[in-house]
Amino acid sequence: MNQRSIIGTPLSSSATKVMLLGSGELGKEVIIALQRLGVETIAVDRYANAPGHQVAHHAHVINMADEQALRALIEQERPDIIVPEIEAIATDTLLELEQQGVVTVIPTARAAQLTMNREGIRTLAAETLKLPTSPYAFASNLQQLQAAIDSGIGYPCFVKPVMSSSGKGQSRVDHAQQVEAAWNYAASGSRVDQGRVIIEGMIDFDYEITQLTVRALDNDGHTQTHFCEPIGHVQVHGDYVESWQPQPMTSLALQRARDIAKKVTDNLGGLGIFGVELFVKGDQVWFSEVSPRPHDTGMVTMCSQKQSEFELHARAILGLPIDTSLLNPGASAVIYGQLEAQGIAFSGISAALSVPQSDLRLFGKPESFRRRRMGVALANGVDANQARERAKLAASRVIPIKD
Ligand SMILES: Nc1ncnc2c1ncn2[C@@H]1O[C@H](COP(=O)(O)OP(=O)(O)OP(=O)(O)O)[C@@H](O)[C@H]1O
Ligand SMILES: [Mg+2]
Repeated sequence: MNQRSIIGTPLSSSATKVMLLGSGELGKEVIIALQRLGVETIAVDRYANAPGHQVAHHAHVINMADEQALRALIEQERPDIIVPEIEAIATDTLLELEQQGVVTVIPTARAAQLTMNREGIRTLAAETLKLPTSPYAFASNLQQLQAAIDSGIGYPCFVKPVMSSSGKGQSRVDHAQQVEAAWNYAASGSRVDQGRVIIEGMIDFDYEITQLTVRALDNDGHTQTHFCEPIGHVQVHGDYVESWQPQPMTSLALQRARDIAKKVTDNLGGLGIFGVELFVKGDQVWFSEVSPRPHDTGMVTMCSQKQSEFELHARAILGLPIDTSLLNPGASAVIYGQLEAQGIAFSGISAALSVPQSDLRLFGKPESFRRRRMGVALANGVDANQARERAKLAASRVIPIKD
């Protein structure tokens, strides 16, 4: 048996310690799942009172992109397992510590490094693994960007900083007059590496999905790949607003989606859940990107699956058996801050929860921004459509107010 199937007592010398790098709403749920299994949890984020800080045994505020600060904290806390929840991390430090055998990084330090940069993961997917993707190029200045569009990618296209997430710095470019603005926006929205972008030709998809894929150990200690039912979602300005499960697909499209997901996750390796983002048109499927961690659109699994994506992640990283089965069709709808203020309140909660088969998660973020995700409504239904209507209705009834 894998030695990870021993779990100690939190806050004692036998503790099994897991450190979350990034403690937003997704990290918070992973922490809760780990705590239910008796794991000692350490939540790290760049600001105080992040959602995960509020439920972990230990909370720290550091700049996780700072190599020295990250190394010092890991040496201080000595976690058994490190779980990156965000992309902006000093992954070189994780690579070194993993190589020295000091910690296990989920799924692997290499996966964290490859996926934090669109250039790394796109090149791996398209060129090494030969998976179908949108046409793409990279550019480091406005002239290269224009040249890439003119020499084949054309319009419409998407311009994205190579280091960014949740649609930050991303724009759709429909004609030549918008190229310069897209370049400037990308440079301002880029997280770490100023001024390198990917340009992607637009895929005219029918719908897009997240294929949650779990690498977990079986009883013989071998890694097996498991698939959740596909999750459909709607994105606005590169940020998810609604998701549902299951998304109906043709059997060929589903098989292709899973073949792609298997190839990518086999290459990234390690244990844990991955969110493989795919575009689908008829039977055709394109790889878009992958998160080597729970996915925001996967919040729906808190109401639709026997084990949510967070429970699946917690179990898989501990070397425990998992079950990806769907319980009921479900949906999630995002609740935005709508206000720019600290310590906001939410009204309409009881009206929201009076929607049949609904539930809410309010993340407890200390500061609200107009487009900041502050919570999510969940709902079940006889099918995904009914669940979507209910989740949207419940979300719309939650009104952020200044207390
Ligand atoms: N090449 C493309 N063709 C069509 N639509 C696209 C393309 N690239 C991006 N989009 C749309 O924009 C959304 C966000 O893109 P992408 O996932 O690359 O950005 P992101 O910043 O990583 O977002 P997130 O962190 O929320 O996943 C996609 O889910 C899709 O709806
Ligand atoms: Mg995405």
